[in-house]
Amino acid sequence: MPETYDIGLGNNNSHLRQEADSDFVSFWDSQARNLSWFSLWTKTLDWNPPFARWFVGGTLNASYNALDIHQASKSAKTAILWEGEDGQSRNITYGELFIQVQKFANVLKSLGVQRGDRVTIYLPMVPELPIAMLACARIGATHTVIFSGFSAASIRDRVSDSQSKVIVTADGGYRRGQIINLKSMVDDAIKSLDFVNHVIVLERAKNKISMTPKDKLWGQLMADVSDLCNAEELPSDHPLYILYTSGTTGKPKGVLHGTGGYLTHLYSTFKWAFDIKDSDIFFCTADIGWVTGHSYVVYAPLLCGATQVMYEGAPDFPDVSRMWQILQKYQVTIFYTTPTAIRLFMKFGAEIPNSFDLSYLRLLGTVGEPINPEVWRWYFKIIGKERCPIIDTWWQTETGGMLISPLPGLETVSLKPGSAGHPIPGINIGIVDENGNDVPANTKGYLVVKNPWPGMLLSLWDDDEKYKTTYWSKYDGCYYSGDYAMRDDDGYLWLLGRADDVLNVAGHRIGTAELESCIVSHPSVVESAACGIPDDVKGETIIIFAVLRQGILGGTKLEQELTDKIRTDIGAIATPKHIYFVPKLPKTRSGKIMRRLLKAIGTNEEIGDTSTLEDGSAVTQVQHAFDEVHRRTK
Ligand code: PRX
Repeated sequence: MPETYDIGLGNNNSHLRQEADSDFVSFWDSQARNLSWFSLWTKTLDWNPPFARWFVGGTLNASYNALDIHQASKSAKTAILWEGEDGQSRNITYGELFIQVQKFANVLKSLGVQRGDRVTIYLPMVPELPIAMLACARIGATHTVIFSGFSAASIRDRVSDSQSKVIVTADGGYRRGQIINLKSMVDDAIKSLDFVNHVIVLERAKNKISMTPKDKLWGQLMADVSDLCNAEELPSDHPLYILYTSGTTGKPKGVLHGTGGYLTHLYSTFKWAFDIKDSDIFFCTADIGWVTGHSYVVYAPLLCGATQVMYEGAPDFPDVSRMWQILQKYQVTIFYTTPTAIRLFMKFGAEIPNSFDLSYLRLLGTVGEPINPEVWRWYFKIIGKERCPIIDTWWQTETGGMLISPLPGLETVSLKPGSAGHPIPGINIGIVDENGNDVPANTKGYLVVKNPWPGMLLSLWDDDEKYKTTYWSKYDGCYYSGDYAMRDDDGYLWLLGRADDVLNVAGHRIGTAELESCIVSHPSVVESAACGIPDDVKGETIIIFAVLRQGILGGTKLEQELTDKIRTDIGAIATPKHIYFVPKLPKTRSGKIMRRLLKAIGTNEEIGDTSTLEDGSAVTQVQHAFDEVHRRTK
């Protein structure tokens, strides 16, 4: 008998599945009516492959749906329970959030921001981050949030690509007790970007910063504006945001999301997956700089009028009990985090969470990476006390919201540790082989989506061609996710990692091509290959092989220099575990780097078939370089 856990939370709405199966378009049509529209659509779906437009002719506003609609009944209800890393806390009601968003929308307008403009937001996890996003949405500006762990060079690339004229940042942000000077990062990033007219600076950490003529303080700007700003009536496909994510090329792609379809997807999945009730205290640990934060910290909880905890800092600061302290303090009922965080907690033992009162918890979730069955069981037993369903939610920046997940808000769930379960209603998932044919049960294949869905990306920012080739060219009419998966005999889906050259480090996407182009732009390096090797906590960690210019000798100094370069050009999240200097890289006869061999060496595994290698000695040389580093670092 397979290991399954049946848990019901008293919901019996599986009939939605039949409705969705019989006609997914009219199914989503009825879901979209849960939102507030200024005018209803004339066409539910305009599918001009690969471009989908949902609710054509309808007009709405994301900020209106997140705030205005709650004012009559919930203005005194807490929207955000904010916990600063330094121990400060703030309680922000729906009424207060409404005022702050309108004021900041007026600030943006006063600086010349108009409907259709892009605004870059580079802020730590403070309430002003959702305030700035909602203010953009209110006036029809497209926000582009950059994770505050990214470097100046990464900001420059993204600001240049999106052509943002206004940047919102802070003096500093707290990370593990340190203050990161975000403002100086922005100063460096925009040095040569003349089109940036204004930088709005929130005073969060009160660290010393230098002000330039472009800079304005958030507090001062907010003091001078009215607290009334009507929400713009926007078409359903109005671009709500651009979020940059790593792919298989050297530069991140600007994933572009719309409004009506995206919000419909979030509203529905938040209810079905999290079973959200008015009395719940929801806590998603994701940083808003990533898609999970956009969708399930900012938009979904606010659309549903939920109360949520927002935490500013690292999960293990000042120690690994921090999360449990927060859960206990705010009596959190729904907790959504990553397998990486759970593996970290697990490493420190059950005694720590067991010493906190977690009895309010009623539902647990994970996202971002495959969860190993033993980690799932620990989460289920130690944190959920075998009472709470675990929803393992599979989705991507591009999908906007969850596509595969158990749905305890809809039906009794039957959970298998390590499986994300079934697709959500209205989503047609396929597992196919290289030729696009469905693979039999228990066979690994590529995960594709066979129908358009409301949360799907509109396109890539300013690059429809790349949108087509990246997602829609491998299989005709199907969205290619870049993931491997398998369906078992019971129809459960098992996610088996990336099928492309994208790494998943602690649930964050990092492209090998981005790492490689960073390394080869160093004058000492001619060629490089990055790959991921398994890591007990982060799931995957980065190692890099680099071929140096003639006459240049590798060593720990150069390794440090290259590591620093990655931190400066991309950000600390891309820090490699090791850089190995090798005379050549193993390649096929057609010149393709054989990452499989590099990975096998990095994990001390069997090298396997090398018949397609162009030069067999490359493997021996890589192995030698690898052994040498490990002998030295032992
Ligand atoms: O490989 C899959 C993995 O994360 C990738 C998407 O990354 P990103 O766009 O940054 O979004 C992360 C948060 C939604 C996917 O291609 N992934 C995401 N969720 C899961 C997962 N892998 C396994 N199980 C999941 N639940």
